[in-house]
Amino acid sequence: MAGPHTYDVIVLGAGGAGLMCAAVAGQAGLRVCVVDHAEKVGKKILISGGGRCNFTNLNPLPERYLSANPHFAKSALGRYTAADFIALVEAYGIAWHEKTLGQLFCDQSAKQIVDLLLAECAKGGVEVKTGCSIADVAHRDGDFHVATSQGPMMAPRLVIATGGPSIPKMGATGYAYDLARQFGLKVVEPRPALVPLTLRADDALFRELSGVSAPTRVAHRKTQFEEATLFTHKGLSGPAILQISSYWRHGDAIAIDFLTGLPQGSLLDVKRSAPQTSLLNALTHHLPHHLPQRLAEALVHRLGLSGPLQHHADSRLQAAEAQLRAWSFSPSGTEGYAKAEVTAGGISTAELSSKTMEAKHVPGLYVIGEAVDVTGWLGGYNFQWAWSSGVVAGEAMAHSVHQASTVVKATPMQRNVQANS
Ligand code: FDA
Repeated sequence: MAGPHTYDVIVLGAGGAGLMCAAVAGQAGLRVCVVDHAEKVGKKILISGGGRCNFTNLNPLPERYLSANPHFAKSALGRYTAADFIALVEAYGIAWHEKTLGQLFCDQSAKQIVDLLLAECAKGGVEVKTGCSIADVAHRDGDFHVATSQGPMMAPRLVIATGGPSIPKMGATGYAYDLARQFGLKVVEPRPALVPLTLRADDALFRELSGVSAPTRVAHRKTQFEEATLFTHKGLSGPAILQISSYWRHGDAIAIDFLTGLPQGSLLDVKRSAPQTSLLNALTHHLPHHLPQRLAEALVHRLGLSGPLQHHADSRLQAAEAQLRAWSFSPSGTEGYAKAEVTAGGISTAELSSKTMEAKHVPGLYVIGEAVDVTGWLGGYNFQWAWSSGVVAGEAMAHSVHQASTVVKATPMQRNVQANS
């Protein structure tokens, strides 16, 4: 019987992080195999950004990532930057545009990003095995032995790039955490993030607004996002809510400012200029950013303020304005992994080198991408983390192999990295 296929690197997971890492290591001359149980690679890339992939953000500041160690992501994000990935995208002639808040999307299709990654892998002679499930991983005599549905393979380096469990129907699993535990690495309790929040039955009034969206500022403790909130039949969604959901914990309240952007005292100003008008009219017609009618009706109903504004004392209107600026919701939960764009938590950064992504106590084992306890904001931050962590791991592996030799021929992708390091 033939022995296991031997490689320098086996990458588990052909998402953004795994493919990027494989390409870098392959182009540095390493024999690399990427294994994925899905029938095609990069499935989350293909559906991301409404099919146009929000592939990075112009400002991927480390403070826009959540992690038990907020400093961990700095090193990788600094070594392989958004500018580096943009240069790669441009080298492939992929047209892109900024949609909002520094979020960059392909003009045409997310498939262009997958094709780019596969082309980079091909340049590095990377073997990509899809529809290949992993039965077992063992570590003996300095090698990782991987038993797969397409036969056994072994390598002195193994990269965990199987992501997190969000959207299981796309083939997402918590396998990274199982493997981490097998190797004695701690896992920070994973939880759904960038996910719609659900409301209790007593907030039914707001659930009846399903489909209504409004500009808001949503706050959880000191964290705030000024974007749209969308009411759904289960609760709250929209970019502001998805963002805050990553910070929200069970039992916490969130506060929504429905008058965001308006100066303090706006209701009293309307009372002075149009004393006959009602609060409902003020919210839907008089104030510069008009609230949707159904939302305004629900808010006014809850506030119990009917009739002309001139019939209400200034103090009552000030109190109503204060409530409209910090409307408190106590979500009952989230819509879970089925609807979560990412998973927060994951393999503890305390176990990994931030410079190489290698496990501190398991030489040759690397963890990258969403499997790690690093979670970005909505808006291209998570793909940037996938690229950055993938590149630094790929380079570190190449470096460890080539340490002894004199010159490593720089590939175009590496030249980008070096120019910015
Ligand atoms: P990713 O999950 O992409 O890849 C993991 C791979 O491992 C998959 O191919 C999977 O099949 C494979 N795998 C899992 N378990 C396995 C097992 N047991 N055996 C073998 N293979 C296994 N981010 C962003 O920055 N901009 C955006 O526009 C979007 N949009 C977006 C939309 C939607 C609907 C979702 C769900 C997510 C996004 N994201 C996003 C988040 C982004 O997709 C995510 O953070 C990255 O894809 C993570 O990349 P990874 O390579 O780490 O994991």
